Amino acid sequence: MMHGMRKGLTNYGDAGFSLFLRKAFIKAMGFSDDALERPIIGITNTFSDFNPCHGNVPKLIEAVKRGVMLAGGLPMEFPTISIHESFAHPTSMYLRNLLALDTEELIRAQPMDSVVLIGGCDKNIPAQLMAAASADLPAIVLPTGPMLVGHYKGEVLGACTDCRRLWAGFRAGTMSEEAIEQVNSRLAPTNGTCMVMGTASTVACMTEALGMALPGTATVPATHADRLRAAEASGAAAVRLASGGPKPSEIMTAAAFRNALVVLQAIGGSTNALIHFTAVAGRLGLALDMDAFDAMGRDVPVLVDLKPSGDHYMEHFHWAGGVPRLLRELSDQLDLSLPTVGGSTLGAIAEAAEEVPGQNVIRTRAQPIATGGGLAVLRGNLAPNTALIKRSAATAALLQHEGRAVVFDGLEDMAARLDDDALDVQADDVLVLRNAGPKGAPGMPEAGYIPIPRKLARQGVKDMVRISDARMSGTAFGTIVLHIAPEAAIGGPLGLVRNGDRIRLDVEARRIDLLVGDEELAARQAVWQKPPAPANATRGYARLFQEQITQADQGCDFAFCLPTS
Ligand code: FES
Repeated sequence: MMHGMRKGLTNYGDAGFSLFLRKAFIKAMGFSDDALERPIIGITNTFSDFNPCHGNVPKLIEAVKRGVMLAGGLPMEFPTISIHESFAHPTSMYLRNLLALDTEELIRAQPMDSVVLIGGCDKNIPAQLMAAASADLPAIVLPTGPMLVGHYKGEVLGACTDCRRLWAGFRAGTMSEEAIEQVNSRLAPTNGTCMVMGTASTVACMTEALGMALPGTATVPATHADRLRAAEASGAAAVRLASGGPKPSEIMTAAAFRNALVVLQAIGGSTNALIHFTAVAGRLGLALDMDAFDAMGRDVPVLVDLKPSGDHYMEHFHWAGGVPRLLRELSDQLDLSLPTVGGSTLGAIAEAAEEVPGQNVIRTRAQPIATGGGLAVLRGNLAPNTALIKRSAATAALLQHEGRAVVFDGLEDMAARLDDDALDVQADDVLVLRNAGPKGAPGMPEAGYIPIPRKLARQGVKDMVRISDARMSGTAFGTIVLHIAPEAAIGGPLGLVRNGDRIRLDVEARRIDLLVGDEELAARQAVWQKPPAPANATRGYARLFQEQITQADQGCDFAFCLPTS
């Protein structure tokens, strides 16, 4: 097995010449022969002017390089795609698999003995883990870290749970235009990822629990010196990984995914994370067991008191002891014998967790935020292949609810009619959004957080049961059933719902059902018409996406990226 500069030579039919040529070119960058003999550590550069969540990446790279060189390696930074939630049309999910392909192939194509994957904003670390799983070169993840909190008139604010809450207030007329403009400048006050337990934070915490990142790296604020020290340590760890691993497939085992899912429940984490980790596991030929995950949700309490399920923000979680302290609290539900990229077992990390007297962000098992876990897996005649609800961010009184369906046929239909005063809608109705799944929208937008119709919002209605084949932001809250599979656009039963039908949600029984007889449903199925594919899906990436994207319960990966048996 070749290492360093000798690895993965470009094919000219003469290996000696390929190496000669490679060294001749790289020497144009001023490298010495001594440097070129060292183990090579790749470092992904996901900096982009369009990605403020990655604004600290240049400094992180500098610190990783320092760590690599102090440990005797040669750091080689290389660019990949960078995806920010608000700068990705039609959705960031649409691009996740493109980043996974890009990262996988660059890891494979360029000579490196291990790789440091620096990511943060929601889709980046999942894509990088998918790439690492498929390339199976020793890898370590370095999250960019969460933003610090913002402040407005004595109130602590954070992106983007408070973005949604305050925007809802503006829609309802309780907040002025001037005030909402002022708040707009305060919600995201530093570089880094959203500082609530949204998707980015959830994925970072799960990555730590999975064993793919150093302890503490999920939670240290993006702008703190500790994060640069963690970057330096990640560089040094990558040099150790370069000589003998373990490889991602040896860290990301079925037991390690189980640990990550326990943490997902205990942090009241984002529903999106389940799609992402299903995709990462799928790259290794592993299927996450949804029934086991749901059963876990009945046993594992929500222990971390962060928005949107609780009150605090990521920097508070960090100073309360972060993921290691949480692992200690969950120790009887985890496999602590598993290895991590830093060299210690998960158990040793939990053992070394900082004990912070009086902290109330990481609760004890005796005083959880919620007794059941954050997420529940639903089935029923509306969701034969599962749907998901974030129980911890829902209204308790709506978890058992029956109501009349008010149906929107897609994003445009919803935008056109939702705020129309003539819309026939009442507070106890069930809002239904369809054709917003992986293929239907396309890209499964975070539109599942259907706004409360304006006329009801003005009456003070704060939550309603909302169901869709879309996703929602991990920072959102409400009684919202998501990821209904199969999606309406490929013939799922969500496409058969009509205005006025009765829908029953029973989270305790894990059911979401359309109360319409089988005969009537069969008659509706017989006349159902498939919505047209997006106009641009005749070529290029849009076509690839339409042809290859899998459903939410399969991780929304491209089918051709799954391992062949
Ligand atoms: Fe990047 Fe929230 S927008 S993490």
